[in-house]
Amino acid sequence: MEGPRPPFENEFPRVVKFLDTQLRPKEGWSIASEYPVAFSEANRNNIRIITEQDEVVAHAVIKPMIIKSPAGLFKVAGLGSVVTSTDHRNQGLSSKTIESCLEAARSHGCDFAILWTNLFDFYRRFGFELAGSEQSVVIDRDLQSGDPGLKFIEGPKVAAEAIHRLYSQHTVTSLRNVEETRKYLNIPNSRVYTAWDQQGQLRAYAIEGKGADLNGYVHEWGGGVSALMALFAHIRRAQGRNITVIVPRHSQNLLRAFAENKLHVNDGFLGMIKILNPSSLFAKLKRHSRHLGVDDFVLEQQGGKFFIGAKDQVFTTESEHDIVRLVFGPQKASQIHNFGPEASETLEKVLPIPMWVWGWDSV
Ligand SMILES: CC(C)(COP(=O)(O)OP(=O)(O)OC[C@H]1O[C@@H](n2cnc3c(N)ncnc32)[C@H](O)[C@@H]1OP(=O)(O)O)[C@@H](O)C(=O)NCCC(=O)NCCS
Repeated sequence: MEGPRPPFENEFPRVVKFLDTQLRPKEGWSIASEYPVAFSEANRNNIRIITEQDEVVAHAVIKPMIIKSPAGLFKVAGLGSVVTSTDHRNQGLSSKTIESCLEAARSHGCDFAILWTNLFDFYRRFGFELAGSEQSVVIDRDLQSGDPGLKFIEGPKVAAEAIHRLYSQHTVTSLRNVEETRKYLNIPNSRVYTAWDQQGQLRAYAIEGKGADLNGYVHEWGGGVSALMALFAHIRRAQGRNITVIVPRHSQNLLRAFAENKLHVNDGFLGMIKILNPSSLFAKLKRHSRHLGVDDFVLEQQGGKFFIGAKDQVFTTESEHDIVRLVFGPQKASQIHNFGPEASETLEKVLPIPMWVWGWDSV
């Protein structure tokens, strides 16, 4: 057995074939077309495989990204496509590929790693915890939008630049270029909807479905609230089924529009998150607290312990899971622990931070 290690350039097709056989046996498209950035030559060094007699038997990948948020710029590793062939399971192989990916992410200076899974206990063993918030809204009726005269188009043949312009207006985004957007527009089993005004300007876009995942879910969208509401109503009519829109908690205007339409909002988690470089992350959060005018915020790690609170009330925990939940939410500090009124007030001015990963960036 060899690895975990990145695949050589000439092994790349074999890696993709292994993943397609294991994870997309019936889909009729390759996993590489679902995750065009993660499975690109430029990201090959962030793939980890274990081989046996030249056959790939286990795999995991990270996709590093820079996420801009009002709380700062964060370097984040998306972890995905974790798989071991059926006849090699329970020998610790995935544990090795995951640890090796996390080490690579640390060496890239990533503040934290994030993944999407239903194997919560499996990933808790590596220090991941469910955290961050995600709101989902089922569009089960026609919506008022107050934005008549829009023309709706379905299909990926739209200018990536126009989508990118609206995408860049979000408060929390990964730093993507137009070329990446162009690749994402062509992900299989993904429907692209756009709303145009009479001057031919793109007013809103929404993406439903992504490869084998997110069928019936709008996981990327952008534009003004009223154009978006009209677009969501259009998608529901065009598909003849209810659709679910995934929304960050900080998208207050859109959430208000959903409430005005009496739509029910479900609370969920953004994903499973693990802090990788506490000192770098905590320094960013301290800077953020000072920008907010809070100067008594304490968040430090020393000797395997975390210290969190306000100047006079500092609490200690050894659990990285507690810190992840405090930093990313969804609960407020006072719902997680009895910090006392002053420390709670300080912590809740700073935490949880606005954080989001759009659907095209998930791995
Ligand atoms: C989940 C998976 C990646 C584990 O790979 P693996 O190489 O067998 O993992 P390891 O040998 O490193 O770890 C196995 C351990 O995880 C535990 N484990 C396996 N599946 C688990 C699950 N669903 N929930 C909790 N623990 C689980 C095993 O009990 C074992 O524990 P032990 O070490 O205490 O005996 C593998 O089963 C797989 O490829 N599954 C299909 C693809 C998949 O679901 N991938 C995850 C996508 S997010």
